[in-house]
Amino acid sequence: MNIQSVSRETMQGRLIRYNELIPCKSAFIDAHTPNSDKKDNFCIIGPGVAENPNQHVHLRLPHGYNIGAAGQPPHITNSLHSHFSAEVFMVFSGTWRIFWGAQGQHEAVVKPGEVVNVPTNMFRGFQNIGDDYGMMFTVLGGDDCGGGVVWAPQVLEAAQDHGLVLLEDGTLIDTKAGETIPAGHQPVQPMSAQEVARFDEYSVAEMLARFVCTTEQLRPELGTRLGNAGLGTEYVRHHIIGPTGQSGTPVILQDDQAGFNLYGIAAVPGQGTSVTVRGEQEVWHVSRGQWRLSWGQQGEQGSLEMGAGDVISIPAGVPKRLENIGPEDGFCFNVVNGVQADEAQIL
Ligand SMILES: [Fe+2]
Repeated sequence: MNIQSVSRETMQGRLIRYNELIPCKSAFIDAHTPNSDKKDNFCIIGPGVAENPNQHVHLRLPHGYNIGAAGQPPHITNSLHSHFSAEVFMVFSGTWRIFWGAQGQHEAVVKPGEVVNVPTNMFRGFQNIGDDYGMMFTVLGGDDCGGGVVWAPQVLEAAQDHGLVLLEDGTLIDTKAGETIPAGHQPVQPMSAQEVARFDEYSVAEMLARFVCTTEQLRPELGTRLGNAGLGTEYVRHHIIGPTGQSGTPVILQDDQAGFNLYGIAAVPGQGTSVTVRGEQEVWHVSRGQWRLSWGQQGEQGSLEMGAGDVISIPAGVPKRLENIGPEDGFCFNVVNGVQADEAQIL
């Protein structure tokens, strides 16, 4: 593997801080519909899927997937839609009701630290059912997310009453803001009942068994701790989404829809990962705790601190280590592209 060195500027340019996230308030067709308004949509890494061209993208580098986030005040709902590629929710804060099916008739409740890998070709939506503003970070498969979002017909019909029109090229027109449909463009028509019937339905039991990872289901790979406590490198890695590999079966077995691996890394205060390097870039997202990321084989090239909600993309070939420097147990998510991703090399 080619070991790369990287400057502090480059690393800082690939770090997106939670408190600097820039939301789009009208990313999608349901942005004006009562109880679906007041949503924040964030495009953090990758080209993104928002329908609003004014959406800010923090790091526009292709990774083979897109990292985003949904932020919603209590009771606010993201309406029923389907994706052509995997949509993974990593609950960051709040309590969420995920619902699915053509009428959203099935549901499950998830809390911080839990993961849902929603299958393609199925209508899904989500509601913050907690008392405070809540956030879920997302991973969407593919650089172009398979080409966008398909809305359930009732969502498009409700939006018409509130001035938003979605065009067939994916652009959102806000007629209440004075925008007009450009000549030669057609609004997306709500699909027929026959078309809706082609979408998949999964029972609650099936979803929970195959596509959800609760905190109770998290289990360390190989059933052991990795590293060496005396060296401060004792940590636990969980394979949350991926194929069966050397380290056993992940909690959510890759059904070849996602196209990426998701790991969860836990460390107690004062402990952290070994120095590892991968042949391709990877994303880290701090779910809990205060961490120091240092890079270089001895950490000599630089370091920065990351707190809950921060996201960073680490370039290929850069040796790095993450250490829990806070007073509480820490947990990070790690996204690696490719169904058969190379295992990280421990240096
Ligand atoms: Fe979605």
